[in-house]
Amino acid sequence: MAEDKDKLRSADWFGRDDKSGFIHRSWMKRGLPDHEFDGRPVIGICNTWSELTPCNIHFRDLAENVKRGVHEAGGLPVEFPVTSLGETIMRPTTMLFRNLASMDVEECIRANPVDGVVLLTGCDKTTPSCLMGAASVDLPTIVVSGGPMLNGRYRGENIGSGTDVWKYSEDFRAGKMSREEFQLAETAMTRSDGHCMTMGTASSMASMVEALGMTFPGGAAIPAPDSRRKVLAHMAGIRIVEMVGEDLKMSKILVREAFENSIKVNAAIGGSTNFIVHLLAIAGRVGVELDLDDFDRLGSHLPLLVNLMPSGKYLMEDFYYAGGLPVVIQELADQLHMDALTVTGKTLGENVAGTVCHDRDVIAPLDQPLIAEAGLAVLRGNLCEGGAIIKPSAASPELMQHRGQAVVFATIEDYHERIDSDDLDVDENSVLVLQNVGPVGYPGMAEVGNMGLPKKLLERGVRDIVRISDGRMSGTAYGTVVLHAAPEAAVGGNLALVRDGDIIELDVARRRLHLEVSDEELAKRRAEWKPLEPHDTRGYVSLYVDHVMQADRGVDFDFLVGKSSSVVTREAH
Ligand code: FES
Repeated sequence: MAEDKDKLRSADWFGRDDKSGFIHRSWMKRGLPDHEFDGRPVIGICNTWSELTPCNIHFRDLAENVKRGVHEAGGLPVEFPVTSLGETIMRPTTMLFRNLASMDVEECIRANPVDGVVLLTGCDKTTPSCLMGAASVDLPTIVVSGGPMLNGRYRGENIGSGTDVWKYSEDFRAGKMSREEFQLAETAMTRSDGHCMTMGTASSMASMVEALGMTFPGGAAIPAPDSRRKVLAHMAGIRIVEMVGEDLKMSKILVREAFENSIKVNAAIGGSTNFIVHLLAIAGRVGVELDLDDFDRLGSHLPLLVNLMPSGKYLMEDFYYAGGLPVVIQELADQLHMDALTVTGKTLGENVAGTVCHDRDVIAPLDQPLIAEAGLAVLRGNLCEGGAIIKPSAASPELMQHRGQAVVFATIEDYHERIDSDDLDVDENSVLVLQNVGPVGYPGMAEVGNMGLPKKLLERGVRDIVRISDGRMSGTAYGTVVLHAAPEAAVGGNLALVRDGDIIELDVARRRLHLEVSDEELAKRRAEWKPLEPHDTRGYVSLYVDHVMQADRGVDFDFLVGKSSSVVTREAH
């Protein structure tokens, strides 16, 4: 299929009869016949494959399926690598590099002769980084996620990546599990290609993409090794060529209504708290007004429908067999903008019409939810003037209203040093406070907010207490954990002023997080407060610290908000 040359961006490289046209074609040919440059759409396959991102290890194979589809539809596929972020491997945290990866994606797409883009995404940060970068360029774009792993199995039980790690590590620390059992479990947990198969951040991001309309219906849940994921990749290759012909750019899909749909769907699936910072950042790139309160206003009253870890008991493979996200979307139909446009060229409603649920224990009907009100809640108070969040579906109901004495850790090192000390003055009513783990403080806003409990409480059988920080938590984690407190301690937020023994009040129903210390005393402490020495001062980290915005702004860089566009007027030759 040859497109009208004048309409295609790539024609400015390959469709010219001058020196530049010669150079562009000659260097790219290398075995490709002349007709590959006859004005057909060039499709960039943006690949986050890396052996250091184990969740995306199968992406070179998946890219081949996309290429077949692109060829079938008459396009020219060109695969290119971008920065990949391996969640379980990178130090100090992948979140430090999400914006860097997004810059890589943006500039690679912009600088090259592509008319449309397929984003191959999987592990937690690879999805938002690709979407953020691509959104700033705004070409026709479709997402193919790599899919979740098969269910983990250990001693006859399903085990979930992440979620059961916290459980096993606490059991191991409490002496309830041997070292041999611990190792057997870690092998049993990760037994196929794919990303975490709980409703952690990766699955939440894949679901976010589907709810936004940026991939095919049902795309989030197909297990990575299932051949139907290859079919999806092939069909995405066909569809992106059509999208180029239709000029169906990202900005036509990523409108306010799509973001609202995504917030509501994330509530009903018990999605990750990380969803908030990523969705805010993506909205910032496409110029959609979205703020922290939208998440509470639109999502907090919605019920939990999906019975997946960490909020429930099943895993993504079960979710797929039950019907996946299309069932959830259909259940929420009255709440969603079902007329929102998607990459299929059809509306969200048209995409899910006729969907049937095959297992009501996995996906509950709207009138019999697992939890009546399960969306993420946004807290306000003098401890978080820019807001903080909590995930009620992963918290203990009896702690949702709580007053307790603060036990404060100034840094993550301080926490590790003292948490298991016999001298630590802590009991089940205490409130653990971890400072300086936010965007600037860590730096990178690490997933340490669900800090493990003191050993002496674990040994007494205590499994949850209130924890507060300016950091994040893994999407696979659980507990009564208040996160994303803004402004963070490192930039002088009131979280920095908490001291051991202060009384903190958490009241989720009233959306309140309050430090019972007078304004006069807080002013006195502020006058004495000094920021900690920066952890790192050179290169990218110094750029990051200088430009990163707080959690309520999506932790993007201030200079990356908005679009660059796909237009680059200066040539290389
Ligand atoms: Fe990659 Fe969980 S570690 S998705």
